[in-house]
Amino acid sequence: METILEVNNLKKYFPVGGRTLHAVDDITFSINKGETLGVVGESGCGKSTMGRTLLHLHESTSGTIRFKGEDITKVNKKKLSELRKEMQFIFQDPFSSLNPRFTVYQTLAEPLEIAGGYSKIEIEEKVYAMMDTVGLARRLVNTYPHELDGGRRQRIGIGRAMILEPDFIVCDEPVSALDVSIQAQIINLLLDMQEEKQLTYVFITHDLMVVKYISTKIMVMYLGEVVEFAETEELFESTLHPYTKALLSAVPLPDVDAKQNRIVLEGEVTSPIDPPQSCRFCARCKYAQDKCRKEIPPLTEVKPGHMVKCHFVKEINKM
Ligand SMILES: Nc1ncnc2c1ncn2[C@@H]1O[C@H](COP(=O)(O)OP(=O)(O)O)[C@@H](O)[C@H]1O
Ligand SMILES: [Mg+2]
Repeated sequence: METILEVNNLKKYFPVGGRTLHAVDDITFSINKGETLGVVGESGCGKSTMGRTLLHLHESTSGTIRFKGEDITKVNKKKLSELRKEMQFIFQDPFSSLNPRFTVYQTLAEPLEIAGGYSKIEIEEKVYAMMDTVGLARRLVNTYPHELDGGRRQRIGIGRAMILEPDFIVCDEPVSALDVSIQAQIINLLLDMQEEKQLTYVFITHDLMVVKYISTKIMVMYLGEVVEFAETEELFESTLHPYTKALLSAVPLPDVDAKQNRIVLEGEVTSPIDPPQSCRFCARCKYAQDKCRKEIPPLTEVKPGHMVKCHFVKEINKM
């Protein structure tokens, strides 16, 4: 399989009042062409920051991001703008990410105009073809975002991201702002486009059922770090990290007595500002021991392809 993106020791820190916020802290992973990497975790754990940093919308603090072999943290502006055509972003809220003064036509045409090299007729053809692909009726071509519902607005956002025919797309909670009834339509549209064009996705969500449905691999983040990483089936069949277990048990499943098995996550998410030299989850972990409060656990491959960041993963799971 062809590796399309390879990320090594990626960090993104923000300075805040003389202190340092570790939004993304030492993340390593790779994705093959055509795969979907699902990224899950509670609000504030660094999912969006990581997604933005992958596309160089944020400058990384350190680490490497190799896209088709090129380290995008090191390429010059010209090369970066070429690579940008192949890497796109779909935002959570299509209302705030779309220009309110642009019609559907202008919104879809703009990336082509900026990229250059297309005639007026070619642009028109591409815009209408994209409207067909994302399921927007052609009669809507001159409407503005505020005249359309959330589902249609997200179809515009997807069309705009796809119009330059990228290979790699970061989808940042693309359905979280939509009515439940529309979520499945949008997810299926993204899956159909993926299949047709062999697209690679990083799909950020806090919804574990969505991530299970669409992902090849799953990365679970907690306070800027990866705490568990595995192929989707493996992660759901053999959940090993206490945080992932808690997240999963909080999902109401139709086929289990959720109440009986629910693990309550105690305490608040602690702050990612100047984090201590400990397990970042230990304050909320019912298995925490002294070692967890004194030593950072390494991210360890405990089964083939299954990484867990926990000192006591073997004991907890009786492995
Ligand atoms: N531009 C910024 N400046 C300072 N802190 C930021 C900035 N963007 C995000 N953060 C902080 O980084 C952490 C991760 O945020 P974010 O990536 O938005 O998380 P998520 O998408 O998982 O909810 C949060 O503590 C957030 O407050
Ligand atoms: Mg976010």
